[in-house]
Amino acid sequence: MISRFPFFKENSNVVYLDSAATTQRVDVALGAEMDFYTKMNANVHRGLYPMAEEATEKYEAVREIVRVFLNAPSSDEVVFTRGTTESLNLVAQGYGGMILQEGDEILLTIMEHHSNLVPWQMVVKQTGAKLRFVDLDEEFKCNDQTKIVAVTGLSNTLGQRVDLKKVVAEARRVGAIVVLDAAQMAAHLPIDVQKLGVDFVAFSSHKMYGPTGAGVLWGRRELLEKTEPIMGGGDMIREVYLDHSTWNDVPYKFESGTPNIAQVLGMGAAIEFLREVGFDKIQAHDEKLMKYLKERLSELDFVKIFGDEHVGILSFIMDDIHNHDVAAILGEKGICVRAGHHCTMPLMQKMGIPGTTRVSFGIYNTEKDVDDLMTFLKEVANKFAR
Ligand SMILES: Cc1ncc(COP(=O)(O)O)c(C=O)c1O
Repeated sequence: MISRFPFFKENSNVVYLDSAATTQRVDVALGAEMDFYTKMNANVHRGLYPMAEEATEKYEAVREIVRVFLNAPSSDEVVFTRGTTESLNLVAQGYGGMILQEGDEILLTIMEHHSNLVPWQMVVKQTGAKLRFVDLDEEFKCNDQTKIVAVTGLSNTLGQRVDLKKVVAEARRVGAIVVLDAAQMAAHLPIDVQKLGVDFVAFSSHKMYGPTGAGVLWGRRELLEKTEPIMGGGDMIREVYLDHSTWNDVPYKFESGTPNIAQVLGMGAAIEFLREVGFDKIQAHDEKLMKYLKERLSELDFVKIFGDEHVGILSFIMDDIHNHDVAAILGEKGICVRAGHHCTMPLMQKMGIPGTTRVSFGIYNTEKDVDDLMTFLKEVANKFAR
């Protein structure tokens, strides 16, 4: 598998254990970007010459690739964005900003990434709606005020899943909609929007072996129709007058300006790659590596692991050693892990710690990577005279 990732040819000594931050790019994603720039570089939805038409066709074909990936009813429901953060801001502003009123409630979990928290805080300021948070071990309960439930499918800090079936059933009970932050799910767990019954899904290409600068917002058509664009200009218009404009159809009304064409093509190639590998294999690989990591970490009695479930992601602290020191020393040895609050400061506040060291796997990782990590973790411990 590692041979499919050119990064490792250039960086054979790097042990990359930070795929939750960003994955390495698969060869076909890099190839798709390069092909666009070298073979058909033209703007989309504008030119009438063959090369521009080819670029447009390839770009639009990625909507169908995403539709199949999500088992969505229609490719018109696939909106291209720059990534999860932009997708979530679009739902929060464009949909939440339209329907929320004073007294309405948005329900989140305590472990949301800032990208699925701050946009809702901004909407609350504008609408007078309020936020409520479900704690880690708390039952998911909506009430008559709950209009939007916005949850991560997989915590980027703990590796813990949210029981989406339960969340959707509870939201349906009160007529609330469910926004799924699938930034971490997308590379680890299958997402079938019809089976899950969610209403909006957001994810980023760069966390699933594709380029940065591309992502998706999928939404149910009737909800996308009710969603207002949050950026004006370019393809999102139908007609423009001096004093007003009318919007294009869904999904184009959300795609203002020249899009990140090469990145979207790269994302399409990365999604096809993931589908070829298959989530059965991906999940088996995640489970095997995580089991091994936990076994090896249990050799160290001064390591505390957070959470009970770890899908490709595990956070820990080492007694009396700051997580930044752990990550910096590992970094000097070529071991890339993440340290800090992982953009989940409220979760850290809840757990009463400033941050953790986080290990996260991609499909290129092996047990040898875990062995290398352990060798140097032991060195870190020795350095701090344990
Ligand atoms: C759960 C989760 N949500 C949202 C984001 C934001 O993604 P992006 O920075 O690609 O917009 C991340 C990134 O780490 C994440 O892990």
